[in-house]
Amino acid sequence: MESILIYGGIPLQGQVRIQGSKNAALPILAATILVGGGVFLENCPKITDVFRMTEILKQLGCLVLWEKDGLHICTDSMKSTPLVGEDVRKMRSSICMLGALLSRTGEAVVDYPGGCVIGSRPIDLHIENLQKMGAMFQEEEHFLRGRAKTLKGASLRLPIASVGATENCILAACKAEGVTRIVGAAREPEVSALCEFLNHCGAKIEGIGESILCIEGQKKLMGCRFRIPADRIVAGTYLFATVGTGGSVFLKDAPVEQMEKVIQTAEKMGALCQPLSDGLFVERTGHLANPYKIETGEYPGFPTDLQSVILPLLCKGMGNTGVIENIFEDRFRILPSLKKMGAEIQQLDAHRVLVKGGKNLHGKNIEAQELRGGAGLVLAGLMADGETVLSGVEYIDRGYVNICRDFRELGARVIRV
Ligand code: EPZ
Repeated sequence: MESILIYGGIPLQGQVRIQGSKNAALPILAATILVGGGVFLENCPKITDVFRMTEILKQLGCLVLWEKDGLHICTDSMKSTPLVGEDVRKMRSSICMLGALLSRTGEAVVDYPGGCVIGSRPIDLHIENLQKMGAMFQEEEHFLRGRAKTLKGASLRLPIASVGATENCILAACKAEGVTRIVGAAREPEVSALCEFLNHCGAKIEGIGESILCIEGQKKLMGCRFRIPADRIVAGTYLFATVGTGGSVFLKDAPVEQMEKVIQTAEKMGALCQPLSDGLFVERTGHLANPYKIETGEYPGFPTDLQSVILPLLCKGMGNTGVIENIFEDRFRILPSLKKMGAEIQQLDAHRVLVKGGKNLHGKNIEAQELRGGAGLVLAGLMADGETVLSGVEYIDRGYVNICRDFRELGARVIRV
């Protein structure tokens, strides 16, 4: 396992470009199997999950070719083979192939999804709603087999605004017979990006960004050129790294309009955030002050993916903070590492912790266990005094193109070993 060596305590200064969004790119890659002709995705992030997804597409017989940070994809020669194996098991987003495969070939055999260890990650909402459109499923020992002679438009309801289930329903509906209405759809920007991509290809999706989507199935969709939007979670990670180290950084291409809650939180903690035409300037010169509560929620609430990332700031900021994680049931996995570094955090239950502020963090040997927790531990190392050795870097590579290079360019003493 590779590690990251961090010598902390240096305020970040300078400019960093925000990469394309992992959680927009992954469902859009799945959507390419629904469109004829070539697709060119600009600004596609070169991260492990995207590489795994392109391997899955190649496994299905699709043509995939990188051109700088763009990805050429042609799925005309695709055949349907069971989606099993390493690449599927290791990644949650392979489950969004389900709706797309059922629509394209009428059959899908997928491994139960992998992904982070942040919770049970059930797929009941995916299955229930695809069944309403005519799909049938057989849960076999190691994988899920789905079949659908034809997918028909239906009225679907999501009691939880699941991002993945919304994306699967959209993928199944855009070439189904008739109209599909999804009530309770997730409103995350990544879902909107998927809808915009599909509409660029000739789909008819209305209500983009809202919790009720209406999709009129089309016979044919044609490939297009599409730019993957900037990653709001990476932008939020670098924003909180700047606030935590007391620096001043310009986040080029940051999707400011998708970061309202994150910016509000940073300003409450003493940061100055200045939206500009091509990004966001952020700096913190005064005290780091803790909000009394951080509560994660569905978009546009505070993103669950930034909960681990903000924890190190709460350890150092003045005042105590209650953190409520409403989305996943096991997303406080970095607490032991933060405590080892000097944090004082009390876990009240699976969804709530109480962070005592005003603590200095000290560099230690620690280990990442999942993607965003790993990013949070990098920030802890940047804010700590002394040297931190963080192992488990491969988890961070799933979502960040090159976190070491980005922080080094901002003046941090970080090296991958
Ligand atoms: C997506 O995961 C993201 N992943 C996650 O980002 C993100 O944290 C999450 O949405 C929430 O925003 C990708 O887009 C690839 P959900 P997803 O279905 O779709 C429950 C990262 O770090 N649920 O919205 O798996 C589920 O247990 C990753 O980039 C059901 O009960 O999340 C959870 O409590 C981590 N039944 C809640 O819904 C279902 O059938 C939200 O999950 C599906 C979900």
